[in-house]
This record gives sequence, structure tokens and C-alpha cells, in this order.
Amino acid sequence: MSEELELYKQAYEREREARIAAESVVERRSRELFKKNQELEKSIAELQGHQDAIIQFEKLASLGTLISGVAHEINNPLAFVTANVESLTTHAEQYSRAFAQLVAQLQQADPDSELLARIYQQDLHYINAELPSMMQDTQEGVGRVVEIVQSLKSFGRMDRASRVPADLNEGIRSTLKLLQHELKGSTSVDLKLSELPMVKCNPGEINQVFLNIMMNAVHALKDTAKAVLTVGSKVTQQSVVITIADNGCGMDESVLSRLFEPFYTTKPVGEGTGLGLSIANKIIEEHAGSLSVESRVGSGTCFTISIPYIA
Ligand SMILES: Nc1ncnc2c1ncn2[C@@H]1O[C@H](COP(=O)(O)OP(=O)(O)O)[C@@H](O)[C@H]1O
Ligand SMILES: [Mg+2]
Repeated sequence: MSEELELYKQAYEREREARIAAESVVERRSRELFKKNQELEKSIAELQGHQDAIIQFEKLASLGTLISGVAHEINNPLAFVTANVESLTTHAEQYSRAFAQLVAQLQQADPDSELLARIYQQDLHYINAELPSMMQDTQEGVGRVVEIVQSLKSFGRMDRASRVPADLNEGIRSTLKLLQHELKGSTSVDLKLSELPMVKCNPGEINQVFLNIMMNAVHALKDTAKAVLTVGSKVTQQSVVITIADNGCGMDESVLSRLFEPFYTTKPVGEGTGLGLSIANKIIEEHAGSLSVESRVGSGTCFTISIPYIA
């Protein structure tokens, strides 16, 4: 009987050990499956993010084409407006002086004339006095429109397939001109541009990078008392190096570590999409270059773009 009991106990023990082993295998597998499942979910979310970023990128690209098309359309009528305004401005001064003399002579010759009465009634003598300065202002305004249209044209060059040799200093200048309105007021711009070799690139895309980084700098400088945006360019043995720095709010480690993630933003809904830097990074990568950043909370941020110029 006791021998039988012993056998039974052994069999029970064996069965228990096997069961525990099997349970731990099942548990390990379940844990592995759970982890795999989590990883899959993360990958799907990332893929979704990339897909959305690509769609957004395509939108920006077509916007670029649209911009250069519209700029081109504006350019044609603008050409004759500019020419006419220029010649009118040149003649306005003489014209105005002659008109004033005519009125004065008329006043002496025939002070009660109907023509003189009409001139006074319609304030033509005032308008005449203002004419030269009005034309000056108009010429200045038209000149500014020409510059903006020029910047839009060079900015919008989004011919994606073809890479052309471009002067990146020109891209910096035209991007700054587009930002003129945002920079107005308390922000001063410090330009330190060196002469650069031509870089074979897609100028529209590179300008997009400048714009995205400078827009962020403008946002970061919002509450800075003596706000300065410093833009520099220099050339090394193989690359053209552009730096865009601000003395704005800066970033802490948690922001820095996620900076280039699509949709990562610290801005309120409607103000930030979180796409600016992920797009910039992608464009620079496609140009075999690099985009890096240094930042300290409270003292500012510097982005460094490096693009090789030997194809
Ligand atoms: N120059 C800068 N100074 C401080 N923070 C910055 C700067 N540039 C980028 N950032 C931070 O990086 C985040 C992501 O930037 P970005 O990809 O351009 O998206 P968005 O500007 O739409 O938020 C910003 O929300 C901001 O927190
Ligand atoms: Mg941005």
C-alpha cells in the first residue's frame, strides 16, 4: 500500500512539474505576443503618421507650383504697371508745376472764369499739389510688389524631378523677404552670408526648409525683449553650411528628442501642425545633407543645415 502511495505521489509530482512548465511556457508566449502586438500597433501609428506627412508634403509641393504660376501671371501686368508708374513719376513734377502756373495765370487773366470755378470746385489745385508725392509713394509701393512677386517666383520653384545649380544665399534672402511682415517690429535680423559655390538642389524645397525653420524662430522669439534672428552661411571642404539661430525661448530635452517626429508640436491646435521640421529633415536627407540643432532653455536655438555641393 505504501509503495503504491509512493508511486502515486511521484506520478502526481511529475504531472505537477509538467503542468507548471507548460503554464510558464504559455505565459511567456502570451507576454511575447502582447509585446509584439504593442510593437505592431506602434508601427501602424508611425506608418499612418508618415503617410499623412507625405500627403501634406505633396500639398505643399502643389502649393509651390501654384505660387510660381500665380506669381508669373501677376508679373506680366505688373511689368506695364511698373513702366507706366515710372514714367508718370518722372513727369509728375513738371506737369504739376505747369498746372499750378496755368491756374495762377488764369486767376490773373480771368478770375471769374468758369474753368477756374470748376478747378476749385473739384479741388483740382490740391490734388495737383499732392500729385508728385503720390506718384513717389505709388512707385515705392509697386517696387515692393515687384520684389515680393520675384521672391514668390523663386520660392515656388518646385520642379521636383530636376535639380538645378542654385545660390543658397539667394534662397535665404528671398525667404527673409517673404517673412518681412512677421519680422517687422522688435526682431532684428543679423545676416552673415559668405560667398557660396552653387549647390545642385531643388531650390523650392530648400527654400521650404529655410521658411519652416525661420517661422519656428519667429514663434520662439515672440516674448523675447531684444529678439535677434541670426542667419549665416559658409562653405567647408565639401558642404555649404547654413545656420539659423534665434535668442528665443529654447527647448528642453523632452522637446529636442522628439523634434523631427511628424505631428510633434508644443503649439496650440490651429497654430502648429508639427510638420515643419519633419518635412525639413526629409528634404535635407533627400539632398544627402544633414540637419542638426543645439538649444538651451531661455537662451535660444541654432539649426545647422549642411548640404554637399559636389554632386
Ligand atoms: N527655434 C525654436 N525654438 C524653440 N522651439 C522650437 C524651435 N523650432 C522648433 N521648436 C519646437 O519644435 C516643435 C516642432 O516644430 P515643427 O515641426 O516646425 O512644428 P510646429 O511649428 O507646427 O509646432 C515646435 O512646436 C516647437 O516646440
Ligand atoms: Mg513649425
